[in-house]
Amino acid sequence: MIGIFDSGIGGLTVVKEFLRYLPDYQIIYFGDSARLPYGTKSPRFIRQCSKEIVKFLLKKGAKVIVIACHTASALAADFLRREFKDTPIFEIITPGVSGAIQSTKNKTIGIIGTPGTVNSGVHRRALLKKVADLNVYTESCPLLVPLIEEGWFERKETRLIVKNYLAPLKKKKIDTLILACTHYPLLKKVISFAMGKRVRIINPAKDLALSFRSLLRQNEKLANSLKKSKQHQFFLSDDPYNFRLMSRFCLGKEINPKIVRFN
Ligand code: DGL
Repeated sequence: MIGIFDSGIGGLTVVKEFLRYLPDYQIIYFGDSARLPYGTKSPRFIRQCSKEIVKFLLKKGAKVIVIACHTASALAADFLRREFKDTPIFEIITPGVSGAIQSTKNKTIGIIGTPGTVNSGVHRRALLKKVADLNVYTESCPLLVPLIEEGWFERKETRLIVKNYLAPLKKKKIDTLILACTHYPLLKKVISFAMGKRVRIINPAKDLALSFRSLLRQNEKLANSLKKSKQHQFFLSDDPYNFRLMSRFCLGKEINPKIVRFN
């Protein structure tokens, strides 16, 4: 089983890409909806929550862990790798960074994410480590997650807020924009419209699923241990009223999550 976790329901956008590119593999998902949002919380809190979740997923039989949440990837991935040395742990930052480097022509890349992700500086470091003369610009967009969770994908208020957040990146003439938050792919149309046709939008969930697929193609033993044998499983730490709406938007169907409470 592939254990995928997120701060809540946004990680379903990552599940969507895994179902598209890795349909033969078994997924167990955990969304920490009781403690969402992670994007405005302290690194210490996020590490502690992530550790509890990984323990839970391993107990349920996950053989690898995928951190769908960008904030947890930015703030807890190294910590989790130290804590769970025997478990392969994948995060969503690195694949998005590689995708952006392949995409940019003018070496000017923008990143949007939660305050936690943006303030961590993890993208800037990873990008500059690979290509030292890149121009990297970031914007944190804390209002977007609540708008998306209300299903306000194409409302004029959403378009206005997106336009405001993206204006500084537009001025910097970025040609590539990383959507460094689980929720933002649901606003891709509005974001793309605001940035203009020439800006390529990177959805790291797709890059993550594709890089994971290439890894499995090279590792038959691991691939076999993750093969689908029963229904995918979805766990949440609370049942938010909008879960069904989000599951319909992300996966095209409603799913019934099981609720698990950590004390
Ligand atoms: N899942 C979070 C992320 O990708 C967004 C929601 C939150 O702030 O918890 O950063």
